[in-house]
Amino acid sequence: MRHKPVLLTEAVQCLALRPGMVVVDGTVGGGGHALEILKAIGSAGRLVALDRDPEAIERCRPLFQNYPQVSLHQANFRNAEKILDLLNIPSADAVILDVGFSSDQLEDENRGFSFDREGPLDMRMDPGDPVRARDLVNDLSQEDLEKIFREYGEERWSKRFARAIEYARAEHPIETTGDLVRVIQSALPRSLIGTKSKRMPMLRRHPATRIFQALRIAVNDELNALSEGLTRIWPRVKVGGRVAVIAFHSLEDRIVKNQFRAWAQAGEATLIFRKPLTAQPEEIESNTRARSAKLRAVEKTHEGHR
Ligand SMILES: C[S@@+](CC[C@H](N)C(=O)[O-])C[C@H]1O[C@@H](n2cnc3c(N)ncnc32)[C@H](O)[C@@H]1O
Repeated sequence: MRHKPVLLTEAVQCLALRPGMVVVDGTVGGGGHALEILKAIGSAGRLVALDRDPEAIERCRPLFQNYPQVSLHQANFRNAEKILDLLNIPSADAVILDVGFSSDQLEDENRGFSFDREGPLDMRMDPGDPVRARDLVNDLSQEDLEKIFREYGEERWSKRFARAIEYARAEHPIETTGDLVRVIQSALPRSLIGTKSKRMPMLRRHPATRIFQALRIAVNDELNALSEGLTRIWPRVKVGGRVAVIAFHSLEDRIVKNQFRAWAQAGEATLIFRKPLTAQPEEIESNTRARSAKLRAVEKTHEGHR
């Protein structure tokens, strides 16, 4: 299944695109937002489309083969300004980041993103990166694992799960998604499991959800990429240009909110909406990923002094 873009109309509309504009899509993924952007900027426009995942780039290639105005690059958006340099593009009218992972990545068991699919415990968006989730799980100290689970997963049982991993890996390395899920499940507190007649009364989500989120964020250094990506692309956004970000959990959204507010307070930007935009019930019904999506956008009003 191809990735279904979230908040498609809202995200593209809030960029206020016109024919001929230059746009950076830092997370091209399945190309859904990019195709909609292309409709708005037309053949006189320019779309610089990036993804750190080479498979996403290969999947997008046929989509854009009839669009000479698209430059497709395998790159981390934290280095987007370097790609603009490479293309001799001084500045952009709009930037969109739809962060996190795609359904294409989640559904491929060989990538190790899903606790529902047995596969290698990998989670690298860019397979050229050196560290896999299995490396963190087997090599980090119990304390460091606990910190990752607490900070990136906001996991209440971080210490308990880190300790369980420490015990389990002393017996056998934890190599697969299934190995990790079994360790987490074996360490669940009784109060969460419940009794036979009232099974898992407190569990609204899979017990490994937050652990997988935390490891994915750590493996891909996602939060630093987001904050660095925003600060480094900002000087390359034209005055009057817009930046839109779709975030999928509170840690990402906090970074975006704080950065946008800082630009607004410095007199460099205005917020397009005071509160983030979320998906309509109809979209959530047809795409559960939309449930947690938050869209924020700013318009650059003045050049900064950096
Ligand atoms: C939610 S999907 C984007 C979907 C896309 N907007 C669409 O319409 O199909 C997120 C994508 O961003 C990519 N990604 C995440 N962090 C990235 C980063 N720092 N640099 C470049 N790409 C990144 C992932 O590899 C994934 O393909």
